Amino acid sequence: MRSAPVDAGALAVAQTAAAAPDWQTLAEVNRPCVACPELAATRQHVVVGDLPLVGRPRFALVGEAPGAQEDETGRPFVGRSGALLDELLAEAGLDRAQAAVLNVVKCRPPGNRTPKAPEVARCSGWLRRQLELLDPPVVVALGLSAAKWFLGPRTVLAQVRARPHEIEGRAVWATYHPSAAIRFGPNGAPRAGLLADLSAVARTLR
Ligand code: URA
Repeated sequence: MRSAPVDAGALAVAQTAAAAPDWQTLAEVNRPCVACPELAATRQHVVVGDLPLVGRPRFALVGEAPGAQEDETGRPFVGRSGALLDELLAEAGLDRAQAAVLNVVKCRPPGNRTPKAPEVARCSGWLRRQLELLDPPVVVALGLSAAKWFLGPRTVLAQVRARPHEIEGRAVWATYHPSAAIRFGPNGAPRAGLLADLSAVARTLR
């Protein structure tokens, strides 16, 4: 998992997040975050994340960052990627209502660009505290940004997917992002790989 915060903004976020005693407080202190000036100036919402309908999540889904529809609505994975994710979760036998749905970066990067390393570092304290508070036994990291957050900056997705990695007591699976599955089409490798990985996760939760 990503190591110590690297700049003053990251440190301030990490300290604020670590002091939040519960999800509601964490969400309240996350929403006005201005640690990343460009993202704070261009976002409509800080997309804090979704909780499962009841209780402790059976698993957490961790994406990269909100897109346009997530920014508009304030909810994670509600756009095209979310629709495909929902379809593949159902096909795999996983119930989104039992999951926490989170992102590495909580604000939409302009034009949906990949979040920059300092943005990821500054936002890390929020995700770290979310995982501590929610304590999901299983995490599915969707795409390279999320995979790197858990497994380190040199991660190559093809080398780490299709098996769990034990990190701080959780089984972390890294797999393709649904946007890659959309980009490569219904017969492409990312869609098949994502479905296979979600199905493997489902088998461990039975
Ligand atoms: N892509 C992500 O990584 N996260 C979202 O919430 C939506 C799209």
